[in-house]
Amino acid sequence: MNLLILGSGGREHAIAWKSAQSSHLSKLFIAPGNAGTKSVGTNVDMDINDFKSVAEFALENKIDVIVVGPEEPLVNGIVDYFDSREDLSKITLIGPNKEAAQLEGSKDFSKKFMARHNIPTAKYATFTKDNINDGYGYLELMKPPYVLKADGLAAGKGVLILEDLKEAKSELKKMLTGSKFGKASSKVVIEQFLKGVEVSVFVISDGTHYKILPEAKDYKRIGANDTGLNTGGMGAVSPVPFANREFMDKVDNQVIIPTIKGLKKEGIHYSGFIFFGIINVKGDPYVIEYNCRLGDPETEVVMPRIKSDLLDLFDGIASGTLGERDIEIDPRSAATIMMVSGGYPEAYEKGKQIMGLKDFEKSVVFHAGTTENEEGAVLTNGGRVLAVTSYGRDLVKALKKSYETVDSISFDDANYRKDIGFDLL
Ligand code: AMP
Ligand code: GLY
Repeated sequence: MNLLILGSGGREHAIAWKSAQSSHLSKLFIAPGNAGTKSVGTNVDMDINDFKSVAEFALENKIDVIVVGPEEPLVNGIVDYFDSREDLSKITLIGPNKEAAQLEGSKDFSKKFMARHNIPTAKYATFTKDNINDGYGYLELMKPPYVLKADGLAAGKGVLILEDLKEAKSELKKMLTGSKFGKASSKVVIEQFLKGVEVSVFVISDGTHYKILPEAKDYKRIGANDTGLNTGGMGAVSPVPFANREFMDKVDNQVIIPTIKGLKKEGIHYSGFIFFGIINVKGDPYVIEYNCRLGDPETEVVMPRIKSDLLDLFDGIASGTLGERDIEIDPRSAATIMMVSGGYPEAYEKGKQIMGLKDFEKSVVFHAGTTENEEGAVLTNGGRVLAVTSYGRDLVKALKKSYETVDSISFDDANYRKDIGFDLL
């Protein structure tokens, strides 16, 4: 199988790393990739939102399967573009079409979908600038904290959680009049605040069958004890102790099955990964959000825990026979620590040389934001720089190894959270 992975973060490095272990793999390309993906495949300098270029490259290089890492090309219709061209019909994309990707691309769409299929989620209502006064009224009826969500994609920043009613009203106005997130917030979902611990649940589906991948917990805030600004994610662990058999059975029966069946019933073809952002409210799962892709940094612990051949699962998608494939999960724990640039998630500098990188025996270092200069030195090239993953017999051991490896890597003004996983111990 010739494989092309689209994206340039730790998620894509982890998918590439796992794919490179497959006995089915012939050639592996990552577009645009980073300094880390170069060690397992060939990087391709390409704009992944330019579907025509992606198609040309795929034809020239006899690509069989394309894994779409981030949501943007999916929400913008890369799958529909490939479906529309006869000459691309033999290429399988791992990711949903534009309609199905609305599960992530429109919060209003996903809330309505959940309501139609009785999938547990927070109570909500959607507003536009035409009924902004109803929006104020709805806020008045709710208790703080107030949860406001931009309907469309807003680079992960579209959710506001506010304590003060006056502020919530003023933010609602900014969102609906376009001064906050532009078009993405021309509709705003206001929803009930749910209190609980979150877990990210992933499945891969061919539209009929599905396999549940290892679950993970992500640490979103920049500071220890979940304080400070939201980030893309500062670390992740898998498995998640509270997501035991009983809880995961509830997730399967109340969330995953109704989602897959609901999509099929509505004639929406969903093939690819589905990411269920779940919150555990007193032992019951509620959906916080859907994403049409894998999570980052969750993938950096999910991929290491998949024992089966990943390309065998992709082949199952290509042939619509995912139901016949096995997925075996590594019983060990995995923990990843994200090393970030000083200042992130606000302004930060790039181009700092990273010291101490090598093949570690006890850890795998996935590159998130790195590049290589002409002399072959690896430089920082983003807010999130490296995801340092280790296995352990238990979570404590996995974390210990990752932290030891983090200590041996350095770059100017590096930062990382020192409490990843500690809430679960
Ligand atoms: P999202 O951008 O949709 O991932 O939302 C960002 C974060 O906001 C989530 O990971 C949750 O921590 C939080 N969040 C979103 N919706 C709710 C809700 N209804 N209740 C509590 N927290 C929420
Ligand atoms: N780590 C959360 C996400 O990928 O959206």
